[in-house]
Amino acid sequence: MSGNEFAGKVAIVTGGTSGIGAAVVEALCERGAAVVFCGLRDGSGEDLESILKARHLEARFSHADVRSDDEMAGLVAGCLRNYGRLDLAVNNAGISHPAAKLADIPPEIFRDVMRTNAEGVFLAMRHEIPAMIKGGGGAIVNVASILARRGAPWMAAYGASKHAVLGLTLSAARDYAAAGLRVNAVLPGPVATPMLEQALFDIAGDESKYAGGFPPCGPGTPDDVAAAILFLLGAAAGYINGAALVVDGATSAA
Ligand SMILES: NC(=O)c1ccc[n+]([C@@H]2O[C@H](COP(=O)([O-])OP(=O)(O)OC[C@H]3O[C@@H](n4cnc5c(N)ncnc54)[C@H](O)[C@@H]3O)[C@@H](O)[C@H]2O)c1
Repeated sequence: MSGNEFAGKVAIVTGGTSGIGAAVVEALCERGAAVVFCGLRDGSGEDLESILKARHLEARFSHADVRSDDEMAGLVAGCLRNYGRLDLAVNNAGISHPAAKLADIPPEIFRDVMRTNAEGVFLAMRHEIPAMIKGGGGAIVNVASILARRGAPWMAAYGASKHAVLGLTLSAARDYAAAGLRVNAVLPGPVATPMLEQALFDIAGDESKYAGGFPPCGPGTPDDVAAAILFLLGAAAGYINGAALVVDGATSAA
């Protein structure tokens, strides 16, 4: 990956205020992209924007909620207004839920997880794709999970939402391959972020309730996942479309 590989490119990152998304925002900016990112964490989006601007990198925070079709339309419209194009998107915003067996998951939690993780990716792509095609094509990476391909004990809502993210990714890849668009997914295992901290706190050290399991080398870092995402966005991945790249330190290799 060249130091300036994404110079002249314009990117959207959802959930860019924390964890994996924040690492992607920083890595894309450092490699020359202009990045518009959203998230719900009060203050941290503005802080990240200021830190990157102080380094003369081009980043803009927008407080957009991926559960809202209007706000996703506004995010993409703002990007086109400010930069005139959209080349890259990383649909990463997501939430988890307290560990519980399926019948004990309240319907409102199931719905919010599905709305954020699954419908959020649909709504983001619904607006990103026409903007990218207008500019001649582009690349999208959706952040799923290793739970997109297996059962998720104690995490049925989260697991279902990530199966949906993978399904949307594969369908979009087929729908738009001829239009110059590539749509791939990353499937991370455990990654040291606020989401993982909260999950470990919720299960009070009982790792049998952590659906995906842990690899011998311990959790990955946000930068580990960002590196895989940037690879899939970049020119070296030009013929990779509709792929699901596992980034889990061998958690799911067993
Ligand atoms: N951390 C892990 O172990 C792990 C493993 C596999 C997959 N993932 C996935 O990676 C992605 C990022 O997770 P993370 O671990 O960095 O979590 P995180 O909690 O650190 O960050 C989540 C981000 O999503 C944003 N967000 C949440 N709801 C939103 C909404 N409705 N609209 C806009 N933004 C919203 C938050 O503001 C934040 O910026 C998620 O999709 C998650 O499911 C994480």
